[in-house]
Amino acid sequence: MNNIKNVLAGHLVVGQAILTIGVSFPGPKIAAATHLCEFYYDVIQRGQFVFKLQEWHAKHGPIIRINPDEIHIYDADYLLSSVFTASSGKRREKYEVATRVFGAPQAAIATVDHNVHRMRRGAMGRFFSKENVRRVEPIIQTMLQRMFARMQDYQETGRPLIISLLYSAFTADVITEYAFAKSSNYLDMPDLNKKFFDMMVGVHEMGAMARYFKWMMPVLNSLPPWLVTNLNPGMHEFFVFQEDMKGRIQEVKEKSEYYEALAHKTVFHEILNSDIPAPEKTVDRLWQDAEIVSVAGTETTAWTLAVITFYLLADPEVLRRLGAELFTIAEESVPWKRLEKLPYLTAVIQEGLRLSFGVTSRLVRTCPEETVRYESKGKLWEIPPGTPISTTGPLYHLDPSIFPDPLRFRPERWLQAGHDLDRYLWSFSKGSRQCLGMNLAYAELYLCLFAVFRKYGGPGDHDPRMELFDTSVEDVEFKYDLFVPYPKMESEGIRVVLKDD
Ligand code: HEM
Repeated sequence: MNNIKNVLAGHLVVGQAILTIGVSFPGPKIAAATHLCEFYYDVIQRGQFVFKLQEWHAKHGPIIRINPDEIHIYDADYLLSSVFTASSGKRREKYEVATRVFGAPQAAIATVDHNVHRMRRGAMGRFFSKENVRRVEPIIQTMLQRMFARMQDYQETGRPLIISLLYSAFTADVITEYAFAKSSNYLDMPDLNKKFFDMMVGVHEMGAMARYFKWMMPVLNSLPPWLVTNLNPGMHEFFVFQEDMKGRIQEVKEKSEYYEALAHKTVFHEILNSDIPAPEKTVDRLWQDAEIVSVAGTETTAWTLAVITFYLLADPEVLRRLGAELFTIAEESVPWKRLEKLPYLTAVIQEGLRLSFGVTSRLVRTCPEETVRYESKGKLWEIPPGTPISTTGPLYHLDPSIFPDPLRFRPERWLQAGHDLDRYLWSFSKGSRQCLGMNLAYAELYLCLFAVFRKYGGPGDHDPRMELFDTSVEDVEFKYDLFVPYPKMESEGIRVVLKDD
């Protein structure tokens, strides 16, 4: 595709309608003519393009051209049986331009080619199956005990606790123990490693820029760390983190016998001992998957926990109903398998996933071997093979025709019979590229929410022992799409105070 080649050359492409998309698709003419439009809303206006897409679909219908190369479709039912189907066996590839945000081109998440992606994902997949997650549930329980020890400190002193930060430390410690048998131990750090999480906003902003400037991530990666740190002080923490990832892979490589003898198998040791081709097993490639697994396994799950905690504490009736259900279980600690059967807790989690969004950027796929046909209002659109086709989760999550009164946290909507709302929950994406860590994320959500709200939420007829502190809905509301959602930039996080018994 001519225009894609221009983008790959590393320039911000202006103008030039592409020849391969010959038909005139609906949408603003300026958007179809140049990448400047999305650049303006994504980068200059900081993560606002998603809201433009919402506006454009309302005006132009379910299929629009959003830049010279890309078609955006807003029709989950159609996409689930075509571009985002999981089991068709058809090639589904990523769009190279969209993968630049990751800054890790050889990680599974950034792999364009269908077959290479299958090999990379396959090598990690079984570690994140439901069966395997159930086997390593004790890791989550251990980290919960550490988390409660930290909460105890805050309870005794009455100091406000940034619970969103505490959850980030918890999920980071779980994923690093799970993946490397070596926890990052953020829960033991006096500041819960706050500076690391604070600088992630800068990393995401760089990612947004990298989409338009191909050279950016490789250049940043090739500069000496001290120079990048001078340019962007927050990046220092990220370099420390990347070096840690490389060191971890190196260690797994060198201490093979130690990892072999462990009670639970770890992802990277098993990959190194698998029969995938040797170039796939180099430290230079594997640290990229290690980084993505560690970051993806931390931020998203922690944000979902924080958003749910906010809405529960903000609505006494919902909290009361949840409390009543949690106290039908006598034990303080039970397996995930039992918790999954609790209908109201399940509804709370689904509603929390909806309002925490997961990935807020558009998810882009290409179908290299087929013409994609989409019919709307009696018109048939033919999208040529290889054209980037995207859709955006928050558009479904905030659609009042699917989720009436969409900004309200209302778990009850998931309990109504006859609705298949799961189809419209795009937090984990859909199809062959959907989230690899979904089972682990669900296990963490169930176990953590059960433990926290059984201890601090009360049995339903008591006042909770946790209260919001100086935190309002503006601290959770989705304002910026930096690949993941951000609320107002001045937010100090979701803060609570814990009361004594
Ligand atoms: C609530 C929690 C989570 C949410 C909402 C979430 C969301 C997502 C989404 C939307 C994608 C697709 C991104 C894309 O198409 O570019 C993804 C991919 C991925 N996620 Fe998650 N994630 C969560 C938790 C986790 C956890 C705990 C892990 C730990 C292993 C993880 C690891 C990954 C990986 C490795 C991929 C890439 C999969 C591939 O390309 O085959 N995620 N996640």
